[in-house]
Formats: sequence, structure tokens, C-alpha cells
Amino acid sequence: MEYIAKFIAKSGEEIIFRYPTIKDVEQLKNYINQISLEKTFILYQGEQQTLESETKWLNEKLDKILKQECVYLCAFYNNQLIGSAEITLKDKVKSHLGSFGITVDKKFRGIGIGQKLMELVLSESIKNIPSLKIIELEVFSNNPLAKKMYEKFGFKEFGCLPQGILHQGKYVDAILMYKKVK
Ligand SMILES: CC(C)(COP(=O)(O)OP(=O)(O)OC[C@H]1O[C@@H](n2cnc3c(N)ncnc32)[C@H](O)[C@@H]1OP(=O)(O)O)[C@@H](O)C(=O)NCCC(=O)NCCS
Repeated sequence: MEYIAKFIAKSGEEIIFRYPTIKDVEQLKNYINQISLEKTFILYQGEQQTLESETKWLNEKLDKILKQECVYLCAFYNNQLIGSAEITLKDKVKSHLGSFGITVDKKFRGIGIGQKLMELVLSESIKNIPSLKIIELEVFSNNPLAKKMYEKFGFKEFGCLPQGILHQGKYVDAILMYKKVK
């Protein structure tokens, strides 16, 4: 299958980065369900997807990728999905804004995969989403590691919704960041 990049992680694993196809739906479902159960710094906090809901979600993403409204990259180790990152355009008066999201499988964190995914999804989005001008993201205030990584890629904080997120029973701030790309 055609891939975007190959990369050797800090601990020696060969990681392949590519766009998903409909054949990846089962892996994508299992991946998000596992990360959801971890209750980490993402929207999903235990909710589980069915094959049906994931198929609907993936078909919508694939459609947006074709229409140049989205870039979605998956990271694989030995054909196993271990990370993903996306930039998806908003609509109407915000159709020049893209929302960024990223996760890496817990067992593969801290070995450079997140940074590589980020670098690739940024360059692919600049190339493949013609109307993209600004990338936006939201990060939990109790996730300084991710915030630092975003700053390293030129994202700047532009706002904060105090107590905007209820994470593991505690209110934390939702920090808003942006990067102008065109
Ligand atoms: C945030 C996330 C995507 C980063 O991916 P990753 O593959 O772990 O990141 P990398 O290995 O590329 O490391 C990124 C930076 O964080 C640092 N880092 C990573 N793991 C670390 C750890 N356990 N302790 C301290 N620093 C760490 C790295 O050193 C690197 O910074 P540096 O270049 O200054 O050294 C990943 O940790 C993750 O999925 N976390 C849970 C979900 C999440 O937080 N998503 C983001 C929501 S906004």
C-alpha cells in the first residue's frame, strides 16, 4: 500500500505513515476504543464505537479527504495501527480553519512518533487542503507535554476556557492554540 513516509523510532521500530482505507475500519475502531478506555487527554472517556458507527465515521473522513477538506494520517508498526493525526476543515465562515487532533498508542509514546505524525500532517495539510489558512487545537491544561510539543511546532496560545473540561472527575481549563500556515 502507498505510504507517505517511513521512520525509525528512537527505540528502533520501523513505523509506516499512510492515509487510511476502508479496510482499516476494524483496526481504527479497536484503536479508538482502547484509547477511550484509557481516559487520557482526549474527548472520548470510555465511550465505545461499534463497527457500524466507525464505518460511518470513516466513510465521512474518506469523503472529506477526497474533497481536500481533511488530512488523516495513520502510523503503523508491523501493520498494527499505533497512532493517528488529523486536520479537518470547518465549514461556512470558518472554512479556512482546520481542527487538529492527535493520539499515539500508550505503548509507543515517547519515542518520537507523535512529533513525526505532527510534522507529516502539517506538511500534507498545507499541500492538500487549498483553503486552509489557520490550524486550531484545544489542549487540556493538565497535559503540559502535548502543549510543549505544539509550541515546538509554532502553535501559540490564544485563549483559555477556565474549567472547560471535566477530566477524570476534575475541572481543568481548555487551552486554545493556533498556527497560521498561509
Ligand atoms: C501527546 C502525544 C500525541 C505525543 O506523542 P508521542 O509519540 O508520545 O510524542 P514524542 O515521542 O514525539 O515526544 C514529543 C515530546 O514530548 C516529550 N515526551 C514524550 N513522552 C514523554 C514523557 N513520558 N516524559 C517527558 N517527556 C516526554 C518528548 O521528549 C518530546 O519532546 P522533546 O522533543 O522536547 O524531547 C501522545 O503522548 C499521546 O497520544 N498522549 C495521549 C493523548 C493526547 O494527549 N493527545 C493530545 C491531545 S491535545
